[in-house]
Amino acid sequence: MEDLVNTLKLSYNDSPNSTSQASWGVVFIHGFPFDQTMWAAQVSALKGRCRTIAYDQRGHGKTPATGPYLFESLVDDLIGLLDHLKLQQAVLCGLSMGGYVALRAAERNPERVKGLVLCDTKSESDPDAARLNRAKDLAAIRKDGLNAFASAFARRTLTAATVQNNPQILAGVEKMIASNPVQGVEAALVALATRTDTTESLAKIKAPTLILVGEQDPITPPAASQKMHERIVGSTLVQLPNASHLSNLENTEAFNAALLSFLQTIAAR
Ligand code: MLT
Repeated sequence: MEDLVNTLKLSYNDSPNSTSQASWGVVFIHGFPFDQTMWAAQVSALKGRCRTIAYDQRGHGKTPATGPYLFESLVDDLIGLLDHLKLQQAVLCGLSMGGYVALRAAERNPERVKGLVLCDTKSESDPDAARLNRAKDLAAIRKDGLNAFASAFARRTLTAATVQNNPQILAGVEKMIASNPVQGVEAALVALATRTDTTESLAKIKAPTLILVGEQDPITPPAASQKMHERIVGSTLVQLPNASHLSNLENTEAFNAALLSFLQTIAAR
């Protein structure tokens, strides 16, 4: 469905639990440059167990591109969606860019966070080298187009074994990236370079936190997850074998097992 959130026609899917619309839910926040469908296996595993909401961030999937914006707008959109759905609290489950959004939301609006699932992400902002890489990616999209970028980027996010043995996963990721509005991908690259560093606030996080990372993730490596784990009191860290950056797609079984067990402890609180 689509609803107006922060003057934006935000596309999202709200799946109720078996009985009713619960007062809390799990909000899935996708990475760059993907869309809400990357969470299909998690939404399906939670069907009937708890309310799940997956949405397309601005300029991704079916949510239109808006022109330039700073990273903070993605956090405004998330909080706007919670307000729109009258969700006082949510478990925020974000992968990579989605994790950056979740971490900033936890820093800014801790009262809205019932739990955090930080997947293949980190608290640091972009160092200069990463900003320069964003400039290269932007230039590559303008020169060679989004399809070529999709093909190259998808390979950066998966293990060599997945690329070789699971062509359907690779093709699915390529298609997801290439289906985005090109202006949305360009704007997100710029916005990512403007995000703030949330490392200092990690020690203040009170919400139960699960940290998941693919053992072979080169983009947001296990060392970055370990750092967050050391700073977030009481957090749990699970490293997922046979997985790179898109650990929820590459090792769905282990990812979902960790997610389900974490959500059970939240529901019991
Ligand atoms: C993502 O998966 O969201 C991106 O790789 C994050 C980033 O480029 O920093």
